[in-house]
Amino acid sequence: MRDWTDGKDPYAVTAPLLDVSGRFAVSDNAWATHLLGLQKALPDTSYVALGEALPMLRAVKDDAELARLTAAGAAADAAYEEIQKAAFAGRRETDVAADLAELLRRFGHSQVDFTVVGSGPNGANPHHEAGERVIGHGDMVVLDFGGLLHGYGSDTSRTVHVGEPTDEERRVHDIVREAQAAGCAAVRPGATCQDVDRAARAVITEAGYGDYFIHRTGHGIGVTTHEPPYMIEGEEQPLVPGMCFSVEPGIYLPGRFGVRIEDIVTVTDDGVRRLNATAREMAIVG
Ligand code: CO
Repeated sequence: MRDWTDGKDPYAVTAPLLDVSGRFAVSDNAWATHLLGLQKALPDTSYVALGEALPMLRAVKDDAELARLTAAGAAADAAYEEIQKAAFAGRRETDVAADLAELLRRFGHSQVDFTVVGSGPNGANPHHEAGERVIGHGDMVVLDFGGLLHGYGSDTSRTVHVGEPTDEERRVHDIVREAQAAGCAAVRPGATCQDVDRAARAVITEAGYGDYFIHRTGHGIGVTTHEPPYMIEGEEQPLVPGMCFSVEPGIYLPGRFGVRIEDIVTVTDDGVRRLNATAREMAIVG
């Protein structure tokens, strides 16, 4: 550790601590300004992203970490139970998003990282966050919310419907729920990350919606809400007890609506354990 007074060039203080031609790993979330400062102070050094160099460093959680992730998942479940009592129709997505953030904090989160509210056609864009659209009767609404509780992450997605859904809307929700269950059922020691993706994707493909599941099935979670390992075709990383990640398939029908269902799971010695409540039938909200 070196003392550093505010206002002094921090890179001039740091540079003497480093090998002038060394190769270093930096945090994936390091500020670009810090990395650029180091590179300028030590032009012969080179850098790699820690997540790339040691992708599995944080992937396996110990019992204390699992307890914290379980608590974060329970708090997110409580927030979801509560948000179903809120009015959806006639309010903007950003209003419901603010409610969700408030609920996550009320149930113990110290930090809210995202509260996605994608109503109607906005739900068909998996990158939508929350906008000015006023939610209407008959809308599907994708909710995806999470943050940190005691330093560990939650990340939950549920899709609700304002009023009675159509047969097709219910069917699409059922397919995603079945895909989510199939992804979870594929989790066991020795299976690989891509096995989880394949299991979830197979259900959606067999139902005829394969072209509309347009993202990976899951991502690791721990002291951040998104980190390795990733549940995606081509990722042959074996699953190890203590790994924690999301299983979150979706179907996105452009211009119409989307459905995503996400739970956090952990690999156990003989299978899988969910760190938040299993998604049930699609909730009807008002
Ligand atoms: Co997620």
